[in-house]
Amino acid sequence: MQKEAPYAIAIESRYPEQIAIAIARDSKGNYNPITIGWVMPTSIHPPMLALSIGSDRWSAEAIRQAREFVLAYPSEMQAEAAKCFGSHSGRDTQKFATVHCETERARKVDSLILTDAVANFECRLVTELKTGDHVIFVGEVLCSHTNANPANRLFTLIRSQHMGGFRQN
Ligand SMILES: Cc1cc2nc3c(=O)[nH]c(=O)nc-3n(C[C@H](O)[C@H](O)[C@H](O)COP(=O)(O)O)c2cc1C
Repeated sequence: MQKEAPYAIAIESRYPEQIAIAIARDSKGNYNPITIGWVMPTSIHPPMLALSIGSDRWSAEAIRQAREFVLAYPSEMQAEAAKCFGSHSGRDTQKFATVHCETERARKVDSLILTDAVANFECRLVTELKTGDHVIFVGEVLCSHTNANPANRLFTLIRSQHMGGFRQN
């Protein structure tokens, strides 16, 4: 049996939610990471990924300007970095200088991949779509990476944004 509920309550049922981190080079020349929950694959041939980012976020400007980005699936060991990237703005903070997070140069785009992530995807911006107060950025994957030592992915477990690993199998 279903009962009508406010949207704000019903949408909380989606947790646990996957966490991703997108990294794009901003107008100051910094590689700016942002923590995001709203991501999804949208195509197999060619492989494409979509991310929903608040219209007024520094990262929206950075991705639009760079026209390329990396999308990383962080591991459960990267909760501190994900919290930092999701609570500070690249507008006034160099986030990679604030918290420990090992990076490597991406191969096909001017961005960074996260060494300890479960996977990284280098993307070229293909299109964007404004939806309410967020913008969906769609990237074509040019190069993918997986971790040689597989770890659990990082999830938001409950609405308080408590983070942790969530084993799916
Ligand atoms: C677990 C978590 C998930 C988040 N998901 C999103 C998201 O999907 N889209 C978004 O725009 N912001 C999301 N945020 C908020 C941004 O990460 C946050 O506002 C960040 O500081 C913006 O950085 P920027 O100003 O450098 O772009 C999330 C934050 C956390 C902690």
